[in-house]
Amino acid sequence: MIRVICDIKEKNMFSIWLRAVRGDKMILKVCVGSACHIKGSYDVINIITKIIEDEGLGEDIELKACFCLNNCTEGVSAVIEGEEYLYSFSKEDVEEKFKEIIREKIL
Ligand code: FES
Repeated sequence: MIRVICDIKEKNMFSIWLRAVRGDKMILKVCVGSACHIKGSYDVINIITKIIEDEGLGEDIELKACFCLNNCTEGVSAVIEGEEYLYSFSKEDVEEKFKEIIREKIL
């Protein structure tokens, strides 16, 4: 039996690699729990949805809502399925962060 031990960064890279090899869509989950809802998760989801439509990324990324990610003190929380790092968005910075972080992982 082979046991693989890796840290979060390595696990995230493995997840990106595995997704690319298998041709899977990236699944981005945005929290719609109470705290994130108050901080604007509805707006964040609408902005990300528009970016996905405008840039034709529908084949590469799927957006899903989820409940509390236990990161309520930050902005609107989000996670890429298979990864452990939590992202934090606001309606003011989501477009820039999406292009910087999420889009780079797709392309
Ligand atoms: S409500 Fe979104 S992280 Fe807790």
